Amino acid sequence: MTGRLPALLDKNISLLYLNNMPRRAADQEIAMKKPLICLLAILFAIGIQSPARAKIRGNCSNCHTMHNSQGGLPMAYEINESLSGYTSDQSPNPSLLVTNCIGCHSSTGSSVIENGVPIVFNMGAAPANYLAAGNFCWVRNDDAKGHNVLGISPIDSNLTSAPGNPWNCANSCHISLAVRQTAIDALGSGCEGCHLNVKHHADKGTGTKYVNAFPWYRFLSGHMSGENHGVEGIEDEDRQYTYSPTDHNEYQGMEGDYTSPAGFYNLGNTMTAFCCGCHGNFHIEQDSGSWIRHPSDASIPNSGEYAAAFGESHIYNPLVPVARPASFSWTGGPSPTVTIGTDMVMCLSCHRAHGSPYYKMMRWDYMNWPENGYDGCGTCHTSKN
Ligand code: HEC
Ligand code: HEC
Ligand code: HEC
Ligand code: HEC
Ligand code: HEC
Ligand code: HEC
Repeated sequence: MTGRLPALLDKNISLLYLNNMPRRAADQEIAMKKPLICLLAILFAIGIQSPARAKIRGNCSNCHTMHNSQGGLPMAYEINESLSGYTSDQSPNPSLLVTNCIGCHSSTGSSVIENGVPIVFNMGAAPANYLAAGNFCWVRNDDAKGHNVLGISPIDSNLTSAPGNPWNCANSCHISLAVRQTAIDALGSGCEGCHLNVKHHADKGTGTKYVNAFPWYRFLSGHMSGENHGVEGIEDEDRQYTYSPTDHNEYQGMEGDYTSPAGFYNLGNTMTAFCCGCHGNFHIEQDSGSWIRHPSDASIPNSGEYAAAFGESHIYNPLVPVARPASFSWTGGPSPTVTIGTDMVMCLSCHRAHGSPYYKMMRWDYMNWPENGYDGCGTCHTSKN
């Protein structure tokens, strides 16, 4: 099943036709691998209408239910309590959806793209090849391997707030993403604590594309001082299910003041600003000129050991991504090279956003190197490997 829709998307066609929900008794487990199981893609010849667009289309009833009732039985489903499959859901969902975020974006199998749905939580075996943000499967058994998020894991047993949280905001997502937040009613919780403005029907263009406006890169935006801001970047079409130096996301960065906390208000529409919306103090990186925390959004100097970063030819490495300045050629697609002197190290150079198989959501096994693991640090610190 994996790979079928991306192949279609290559042809600029993104028409999702998912089959109707099966009817189930209220308390019966939905044993199917995934309720949205069948995909029929209808091919529109390019030219019949305006170019095919990458917004969700297809039979509304694949994803929406008008009354959450058919033949007297609920249509909606959700992940079950033991996180091993799906169960019927008596209560209707917002936007009249057949399920919630996790219901659609999860799988009992180990594929990470199913019927065109990007999977971020595999309940069964861990996926061998996860998407760019990583996966929530590892945080289930180890708090330090991911963000603890509502519906997947309880509150982190070690962290009572987002480390580096500079704001006083009780009962909010800055304290925990694993409980329903009550600080600002209008904002969501869990997944929506980060994906603040989810707009599946927005037309963000097609294929791999530059996104620089609402609803922003992967629906990542801010609120309060971050209002009207969001992450800018190039969204890789299959979210790095496949990746290479020429096939990857691009993230915007911005060099700022290294002595103050950061957020969208002072670090532009960058990924680091987004992370710092909750981990703001981690952007206090310098004290009278020397680094006191690893910099994020500091350019890689074209001198010393850094001059040979990413090898003599400076080939982009999707395992250790860099952020690009505003002057980058954003409409030219992903670049296969790193520009030493202007491109920056950032939060996602070292971390996965959702979770990873490694301690502290690292992108590589930092803790076990050099015995095992990999030295991603050596990509930039070329004389330390
Ligand atoms: C009914 C199923 C369904 C539900 C419910 C759902 N999604 Fe999605 N989501 C999808 C599909 C399908 C796509 C892929 C769309 C595409 O390729 O254009 C997607 C894409 C995404 C993306 C990637 C967007 C991008 O630009 O690449 C994010 C982030 C996301 N969803 C988050 C969420 C969150 C958060 C929720 C809950 C508020 C949610 N989704 C609820 C089906 C769903
Ligand atoms: C801590 C913030 C955070 C939380 C919580 C979060 N996400 Fe994400 N998500 C991100 C970021 C950042 C990205 C983009 C990662 C990248 O491009 O490297 C992303 C990417 C995605 C994508 C695109 C696939 C990918 O790997 O790029 C989907 C789909 C998605 N998220 C869905 C969800 C769902 C569903 C939940 C809840 C179970 C969730 N997210 C919770 C921050 C978050
Ligand atoms: C592949 C799944 C999918 C299909 C098919 C789909 N939707 Fe949606 N729709 C969603 C998701 C997920 C949301 C809620 C989150 C959001 O707005 O992104 C949503 C939200 C909405 C909303 C409220 C938000 C808004 O943008 O106005 C409306 C109205 C809506 N859908 C109508 C429709 C109609 C009408 C159809 C059929 C032509 C349809 N949808 C087909 C997934 C789908
Ligand atoms: C909406 C708030 C929020 C945002 C945005 C956010 N985080 Fe977090 N983060 C938290 C909270 C709360 C915790 C502590 C509980 C936990 O681990 O989930 C945390 C914990 C972490 C941890 C430690 C994990 C552990 O359990 O030991 C890392 C690493 C991390 N975040 C990195 C990031 C990165 C990188 C980004 C940007 C992609 C980001 N965070 C964005 C709220 C956030
Ligand atoms: C050079 C790699 C690197 C970069 C860049 C980086 N981190 Fe980390 N981060 C780590 C490592 C390694 C750890 C494990 C603890 C340690 O070594 O201090 C960690 C730990 C964390 C923790 C957990 C702290 C705790 O108390 O458990 C959070 C939260 C975090 N990072 C967030 C971020 C954010 C947000 C950014 C961007 C502003 C960022 N990191 C940039 C490597 C990095
Ligand atoms: C994408 C490139 C990149 C990666 C990956 C990276 N760093 Fe760095 N690191 C930098 C840059 C850029 C600086 C700041 C250089 C300067 O002084 O301008 C820096 C600074 C440092 C410093 C402070 C050096 C000083 O002069 O005070 C240390 C220590 C360090 N990094 C360790 C690490 C470790 C450990 C890892 C892996 C967990 C890592 N770095 C990964 C780019 C990187």
